[in-house]
Amino acid sequence: MIKKCLFPAAGYGTRFLPATKATPKEMLPILTKPLIQYGVEEAVEAGIMTMAIVSGRGKRAIEDHFDISYELEHQIKGGSKEVLLDEIRSLINQCTFSYTRQVEMKGLGHAILTGETLIGNEPFAVVLADDLCYHKEQGVLSQMREVFERYQCSVVAIEEIPLEHTHKYGVIAGKLVDGTDNTYRVTDMVEKPDPKDAPSNLVIIGRYILTPDIFDILRETKPGKGGEIQITDALLEQAKQGKVIAFKFKGKRFDCGGVDGFVEATNWFYEKIEE
Ligand code: G1P
Repeated sequence: MIKKCLFPAAGYGTRFLPATKATPKEMLPILTKPLIQYGVEEAVEAGIMTMAIVSGRGKRAIEDHFDISYELEHQIKGGSKEVLLDEIRSLINQCTFSYTRQVEMKGLGHAILTGETLIGNEPFAVVLADDLCYHKEQGVLSQMREVFERYQCSVVAIEEIPLEHTHKYGVIAGKLVDGTDNTYRVTDMVEKPDPKDAPSNLVIIGRYILTPDIFDILRETKPGKGGEIQITDALLEQAKQGKVIAFKFKGKRFDCGGVDGFVEATNWFYEKIEE
């Protein structure tokens, strides 16, 4: 059973400055909903109700978002705008949110290790909120959860991209399993390789299910690409034991960590609403 979802949310969001000077990048909205709320909704759809958020300085707005604002509730009660709060109210009612702070920015692996105190000794999901995923029938985490239930090891969501973009992602090599065309047993993983060194064009997107032994591995993981502790390097240790599955998910994914992907997502969701 996956009960908890970790959200690394301590990063500075420098690609969105000055917007992110005093506003967490996770709170930037696609239409009227902040990015992190889409991630929480995806977790809830997968049956995960406990959110563990690794935050940092300047991220208070995330905590306030997942809490009741009494003044606001009072102000709009009985009016036509009240319905706009339905979705967030329902999340607050169904979920618990806990927080811990990453004091130093030492990479995604370090952020995940910081979350150990909120996760404990159980498998858990990880959502990077700036990867916004959508599938009409079944969200990506829910798809991955089924893969986890079958293989009982760490699962990463992957996507096929043009080879020239490998330097932006963790890249895997693997072998298709059980006659599927979308599920690989991972044999190698490299963080942000040049195209010429990339083991394939299958890249990891911001969705993971991790088994808790990852924490011990992360404690031993030396800084890698960019001098940061990389989750990709820690996962490679599990992969060497045959314990990482890569899953080509169904659906769309927008890289909202940059302006282009953010605008693309905005336009796409807007058109979807119009339909
Ligand atoms: C992180 C991971 C990378 C992964 C990516 C997905 O990189 O280190 O392996 O492919 O997320 O979004 P970041 O985008 O934080 O630089």
